[in-house]
Amino acid sequence: MKFLAASLLASLAFMPLSIHAREVRVYSGRHYNTDRQSYKAFTEQTGIKVRLIEASGISLVERLKREGSNTKADVIILVDAARINNAAKAGLFQPIASSKLKSEVPSRYRDPGNRWFGLTRRVRAIVVNPNVVNPAKVRTYAQLASPDLKGKLCLRNRKNVYNQSLVADQLALRGEASTKAWLKGVTANVAQPYFSGDIGLIRAVAQGKCGVGVVNHYYLARMLSGVNGTKDQQLARQVSIVMPNPAHVNISAAAVSRYAKNKPEAIQLIEFLASPNGSAGLAGPTYEFPLRGVGSSTYLKGMTKFTPDNVTVSQLSAFNPQAIRLMAQAGWK
Ligand SMILES: [Fe+2]
Repeated sequence: MKFLAASLLASLAFMPLSIHAREVRVYSGRHYNTDRQSYKAFTEQTGIKVRLIEASGISLVERLKREGSNTKADVIILVDAARINNAAKAGLFQPIASSKLKSEVPSRYRDPGNRWFGLTRRVRAIVVNPNVVNPAKVRTYAQLASPDLKGKLCLRNRKNVYNQSLVADQLALRGEASTKAWLKGVTANVAQPYFSGDIGLIRAVAQGKCGVGVVNHYYLARMLSGVNGTKDQQLARQVSIVMPNPAHVNISAAAVSRYAKNKPEAIQLIEFLASPNGSAGLAGPTYEFPLRGVGSSTYLKGMTKFTPDNVTVSQLSAFNPQAIRLMAQAGWK
């Protein structure tokens, strides 16, 4: 025993003190437990440990600003195009040169200045209760303003970035006057109080409290898969989904923190997550779409045929303040 302890001490004495495991610290606003599988796969492949801090997107951005150069964050992952671009504009990221990311992330899903790169995609879709509204009457976002839908439309509140980005998308496509008219029609159709989440909204559509609503497609897929329990699964089966064509596509994306202490590891992690396998690995369990293609889940039935419109992520960010202002003016609560 004594001998063992002595030899252990002796071998420790020869170990340089500075050696420590390589690691990368991630601040993530993606609220999906299944992402941990992807981090685990990365660690297995590279030996680099991932330390994860999860928080809502807004608080992550605030935290980064507060921490400044003392931040522990190496990689920042956020959902919503406008949010990630606004964080880039606030100087929280640093540009990264990676030919791998340039070739693997389609240009529409990455920053022209190389400060952030898309990882997964989601479509703002229309959910319908066919007993209340004929799905054929709501094939486009424009039709949500139709007077036929008076008292039948449900919306999530204005604070939600997903709807802000949808309105910014419409501003980029149709300009201010037309978007204002659209918002007037849309808000006039709302009967129920504005919702605070997409899942509550889908439940209300399923129960016929609303005829039609707007949600990210993966919330319906999650309910259909049963991860939220059998009650939500039953409700989800009452609902039809319409993928508007062209569709407003949003992303989750990753960036290297301006003050990253582990920059090479940070770049390596983002390259891993944005690769075809990495993107599919993140998107599969959450029913998002990878950067290319649509995956193969049966719960995405009826959701995979969509053509993204040609609005860029930078446009969504640029139109965000105007979108919020017009939503408020139109009475979008
Ligand atoms: Fe979400």
